[in-house]
Amino acid sequence: MASDRVLNFSAGPSALPDSVLEQATQGLLNFANTGIGIAEISHRSKEFLAFLDELESLVREQLEVPQTHRILFAQGGGTGQFAAVVMNMLARDVLLRPNLAEGEERVLDYVVTGSWSRTAAKEATNLTETVPNVRVNIAVDAKNNSADGASYDSLPPHSAYQFSENPALIYYCENETVNGIQFSKAPSDDASGEELNKKDETTFPFHLLPKNTLLPLVADYSSSFMSRPIPRLADHAIIYAGAQKNIGPAGLTILIVRQDCIVDVDAAVKLSRSAIPVPSILSYKYLADGKSVPNTPPVFSVYVSGLVLKRMKELGGPKYYEEFNRKKKEKVYETVKEGEKRGVFRSKVPEDKGGSWMNVVFEVVGDGAEGRFLKGAESKGMKGLKGHRSVGGIRATLYNAVTEEATDALVAYMKEFIETETQA
Ligand SMILES: Cc1ncc(COP(=O)(O)O)c(C=O)c1O
Repeated sequence: MASDRVLNFSAGPSALPDSVLEQATQGLLNFANTGIGIAEISHRSKEFLAFLDELESLVREQLEVPQTHRILFAQGGGTGQFAAVVMNMLARDVLLRPNLAEGEERVLDYVVTGSWSRTAAKEATNLTETVPNVRVNIAVDAKNNSADGASYDSLPPHSAYQFSENPALIYYCENETVNGIQFSKAPSDDASGEELNKKDETTFPFHLLPKNTLLPLVADYSSSFMSRPIPRLADHAIIYAGAQKNIGPAGLTILIVRQDCIVDVDAAVKLSRSAIPVPSILSYKYLADGKSVPNTPPVFSVYVSGLVLKRMKELGGPKYYEEFNRKKKEKVYETVKEGEKRGVFRSKVPEDKGGSWMNVVFEVVGDGAEGRFLKGAESKGMKGLKGHRSVGGIRATLYNAVTEEATDALVAYMKEFIETETQA
């Protein structure tokens, strides 16, 4: 691979494995021995459809997705899903409960733990503001529990969540890419797991959700998909992720949708004004009926994602990556703590308050210090460390393709920076 490649800590689009990029170069010229490149071949060709099937199996097998759930491929990214989940889940609710009793509502519960879930809640509000009998409920807003009451710096305690009794949708974002806040992995859903889940305030509070129902639980896994096993996957109605973080190039959105959430959205609209007309491209039924190719899919993104997931399987799947990613984040958080003690860094989300494994965010203390940090990193071939424009600071992204060597290089540089700053 070309030696002019830098160490890329960008939050998305983000680093991809060198070996995959080399394979993809070949595939651009000749896909599956067809003599036609992947960007040129018909998406209805048997070779492409076989590849798409394999991609589905790679997701199903590695995440142990049960047969109760379909795996669908879409376009439109996370932002497309902010709208799609509302429309499809409202239609489902209308079909389940066509007639509401006097004063009854269809409530969409949002867990807001950072900018992406806040944006998703805003989209839900925009879409439903004028829709009769539909209301968005903020089940919790983590900023109300933050140090300054205005920013996102931790996960809220379980006692802060107020879920509705019978919501049409319960939404959360597993990893907040901008703010660096992630739910910790909940233990398995056995009885002792439930106990543990209650005690650990940084897990998603599954034990507080309505019981004895097919949960309308929706999770945005855009920036943590395939980085470790998904806790209680089978309890989710929808899990979605844009490919451009851990999986491949932008363009592909991966959906895991429970079968009861693939509903006739047009029938729902005819039944009640609480259902919103759904453009075909956002309808799960349209996607499912068309086997994820009702129209032209993002072929190149599908291809590279398939190569990444094949490699991932060879390495040991999400369990392998869980240990790999755990090691990397521990090294970085430890160094942030070291810098904090020496007055050089300030953690924005402490590791034990919901600090993300994928995006470690911190500040560099002192006048011009952040600029010095970034300039020094760049001179050592490290890029993409600048925090999101809305929050500033530093964001070190440690997705699957960020190697241990790259992480070690970053940690060594952070240590060197601590020494230089404290000598100055
Ligand atoms: C957690 C999360 N959700 C949603 C989005 C929006 O995704 P997209 O840019 O694919 O619309 C992003 C983008 O970075 C994200 O990180």
